[in-house]
Amino acid sequence: MTEHKKNLLTKIADRTAVVGVIGLGYVGLPLALHFARQGFRVLGYDLDPVKIGALNRGESYIKHVSGALVQELVDTGRLKGASLASDLAEADCIQICVPTPLTDKMEPDLSYLNSTAEMVAGVIRPGQLVILESTTYPGTTEELLLPRLSAGGLQVGRDFFLAFSPEREDPGNKNFTAANTPKVVGGVTEACLEVTVALYDCITQTVPVSSTRAAEMTKILENTYRSVNIALVNELKVLAHRMGIDLFEVIRAAATKPFGYTPFFPGPGLGGHCIPIDPFYLSWKAKEYDFTTRLIHLAGEINVAMPSYVVEKVAEGLNRFKKSLNGSKILMLGVAYKKDIDDDRESPGYAIMKMLKEKGAELSYNDPWIPRLRPTRKYDFTLVSVPLTPEMLAEQDAVVVVTDHSDYDFKAIVRHARLVIDTRNATANIEGAAEKVVLA
Ligand SMILES: NC(=O)c1ccc[n+]([C@@H]2O[C@H](COP(=O)([O-])OP(=O)(O)OC[C@H]3O[C@@H](n4cnc5c(N)ncnc54)[C@H](O)[C@@H]3O)[C@@H](O)[C@H]2O)c1
Repeated sequence: MTEHKKNLLTKIADRTAVVGVIGLGYVGLPLALHFARQGFRVLGYDLDPVKIGALNRGESYIKHVSGALVQELVDTGRLKGASLASDLAEADCIQICVPTPLTDKMEPDLSYLNSTAEMVAGVIRPGQLVILESTTYPGTTEELLLPRLSAGGLQVGRDFFLAFSPEREDPGNKNFTAANTPKVVGGVTEACLEVTVALYDCITQTVPVSSTRAAEMTKILENTYRSVNIALVNELKVLAHRMGIDLFEVIRAAATKPFGYTPFFPGPGLGGHCIPIDPFYLSWKAKEYDFTTRLIHLAGEINVAMPSYVVEKVAEGLNRFKKSLNGSKILMLGVAYKKDIDDDRESPGYAIMKMLKEKGAELSYNDPWIPRLRPTRKYDFTLVSVPLTPEMLAEQDAVVVVTDHSDYDFKAIVRHARLVIDTRNATANIEGAAEKVVLA
């Protein structure tokens, strides 16, 4: 056993290893908290000074992450925000949780990973373990990180250790956290795998695989599986409407089969930083192998078309009142991409709003988790969440349910609104809903 491996395993076992987390967003912050709770000293590094400032004051800047826990861990000295890359030299184990979005051309935007790789290459020292956690195409760890980290002469598996372990964080999920979600791990060498498994064994159950590429592919498989199955139920929903069948009832019935079926539910389209994006990382890489991922593309096409289907349903609902989209007052309920979180990235709500606005609708929105909308690269909305009062609901020509946040009182919404377009089946069991609700 090399000296570095032995030392690192000892430090991990007795919790004296310092853990560094790069990128303190939806994934990195919970991960940093989790290691700190398990007794490690954690350095969280982020380019965003607002996040580092809040962290060092003991404040959480993500709504579903407990501020009290952040405060407690900062007070005990186990968690600290770092704004200098050089601080990371102190870390024994560095975990990279930076964004992996798509460019406008739907290709992997590797700029965050590239700049992080350069930064880590600048601070790496013998004995360190570096783990990539960001979701990415198979090959990234060994093609993008390894050459940079070994450029100074350090040998992987002997002088430093490199692994990939995908993040399975499900923001807002109260049943599954980092503590009870198994972690898949692939190392560049056997030694890399061994130290990474030792580290994650301290926080959860680990699932070792034979390579970093297998671990990278595992994450893409998980998210592609979701994307394809959501596309299937989205397509069937459109057909079921035409056939006069309630697809939600059908899904619930199918889910009683004790084997071979996992329920997925239709909605207004895909959102978030994972499912709409990750499959395209694989499609892009597949081209290098002269391969077209047809099913992934088809699923993407179906899911991307859902917002226009919702807009069609809004027009159909207004038609009942002899109204057009042009000039109608429309209230959007929810812009978060799923219930009970403050993440609106890639939310189908924006695509729906953009189309409604282009057709002349007068838009407003309410989201208890997202108090204001600011212009982004893709959308140009500057709006403040309006209070959800009976008067506000009654003034609208249509109310569109995009996100079924637990705080919403759907009975009251149906009672006061003239017309509800429900993309989540949130009003299904409300008496008298049939007259006012269009399911979309
Ligand atoms: N959000 C999820 O539910 C989820 C789940 C599983 C996996 N993932 C994956 O995890 C990764 C991170 O996602 P996220 O949702 O946490 O993103 P995020 O945007 O919430 O957080 C990323 C953080 O990285 C910081 N950052 C960017 N470049 C940096 C750099 N060079 N150095 C230091 N900090 C930098 C940003 O300021 C930001 O705070 C992505 O690859 C994503 O696909 C996300």
